[in-house]
Amino acid sequence: MRKFTKNLLFLENGEQVIVGNKYECTFLKMSSECYDILNGFVKKGIGKHEYGNIFKDKDDREYFSELHDKLVAKKILVDEHDMELLADFDIQWEVTNQCNLHCKHCIADAVTTKTLIADRDEIYAIADKIIGVQPKLITVTGGEPMVLPFFFELSEYLKRNTDSEMSLMTNGTYINEENAPKIKDIYDTVYISVDGADEKSCSEIRGAGVFEKVLNAVKCLKAAGVEHISLSFVLTTQNREYEKPFIELCRKLEVSPMVREFSPVGRGKDHKDWYIQDEAVEDNDPVDPEFVKKTRENQPVIELGACGGRYGSFTVNPKGDMFLCAPYECSEKSIGNILEVEDIRKYFYEEEFRKTESYLNFEKKMPENLKRCKECSVKYFCWHCPFLFEQSLKNEKSFDSYCKLRKKEIGFSLWGEI
Ligand SMILES: C[S@@+](CC[C@H](N)C(=O)[O-])C[C@H]1O[C@@H](n2cnc3c(N)ncnc32)[C@H](O)[C@@H]1O
Ligand code: SF4
Ligand code: SF4
Repeated sequence: MRKFTKNLLFLENGEQVIVGNKYECTFLKMSSECYDILNGFVKKGIGKHEYGNIFKDKDDREYFSELHDKLVAKKILVDEHDMELLADFDIQWEVTNQCNLHCKHCIADAVTTKTLIADRDEIYAIADKIIGVQPKLITVTGGEPMVLPFFFELSEYLKRNTDSEMSLMTNGTYINEENAPKIKDIYDTVYISVDGADEKSCSEIRGAGVFEKVLNAVKCLKAAGVEHISLSFVLTTQNREYEKPFIELCRKLEVSPMVREFSPVGRGKDHKDWYIQDEAVEDNDPVDPEFVKKTRENQPVIELGACGGRYGSFTVNPKGDMFLCAPYECSEKSIGNILEVEDIRKYFYEEEFRKTESYLNFEKKMPENLKRCKECSVKYFCWHCPFLFEQSLKNEKSFDSYCKLRKKEIGFSLWGEI
């Protein structure tokens, strides 16, 4: 027997509905009539094997069998006993909040001090808990993780005791010819932040001389044979002109570019004017009626994103406090301290974390639960990051123009509405 997924998304617009699985990011558009018939089958426990008795017409029978199979393949219909518990977790671990740089925007508000304050026992106790989770991916970040004198020893410890994929997120300034091969042996991917395309733009945020060190880090990692290197760039109102040169730089260096949106939190709070708001765009171009017809009849060509915090991603801070996402460290209570969780597998794999007050508050912030967006026919496609959604809500005017534009664009892609 089949039931609808517990992560169901359901949208209705006139004679059409879209059903989907929010976690799997899958969806399917169908007529309301077909949905009603199918929903009736699910409620009454009628399985696909009974369609032969129900539909006398061959085309109907085939259509509903095909629809059933598509919904099963997309995990929108699941086995009635399936608890759909999360099987994989990604953990970003901020091993320290100290750093050798003092970037203007630092979300972690990383502190520069002459002496490192690192409690080795506490760090290893957190490592043991993370090992207990056996996450799919461990991203070691900070502050600057490489300031730890036992950074390589700790990295090797994680590597030796897990089957996890390992990523390093670093400012790159400590990477040299000597340690690059060690990084290669432990880490699958190295993310280096540069936030610019040349010395001038990089130093504006990260300080003088960092750009050259990043270039050298890339050179050493490449020479050591690290295959997956990514450079990142935080996009602000001040550095937009460098976005394209940054992409060009990555192309030349043969690394993957990653452009992140600036969040006005941590030290970023002092630069609220760097936050990019949406500007009103008027678009009154007529649309070809044939194109509208096609869009209405066919499956939408549009992507659906899922919030990692909801579906298996945690940030652990240097004290072991867990958050659903790094930006929430500044504004939300933690969803628990990893050192205090007795049964770590139950907490993660039986989804005990979903019972915490912080998690329940977080769920309330999704557009589907917010008065303003609750009834909107594109709500699941408009936002997938509750943090950015919340930031955007702070500016009424900018939110209104974003909303107007999104409703029009996504409404057309999903429903053929203009
Ligand atoms: C906090 S850093 C920690 C790792 C390492 N020290 C580094 O700089 O890459 C992780 C990432 O967050 C980015 N970041 C810092 N402040 C940010 C902000 N206010 N908004 C968005 N991303 C930010 C950094 O540029 C970096 O790519
Ligand atoms: S963004 Fe990274 S490098 Fe810059 S101050 Fe923060 S932790 Fe340090
Ligand atoms: S289009 Fe507007 S109302 Fe709909 S989800 Fe987006 S922001 Fe909310």
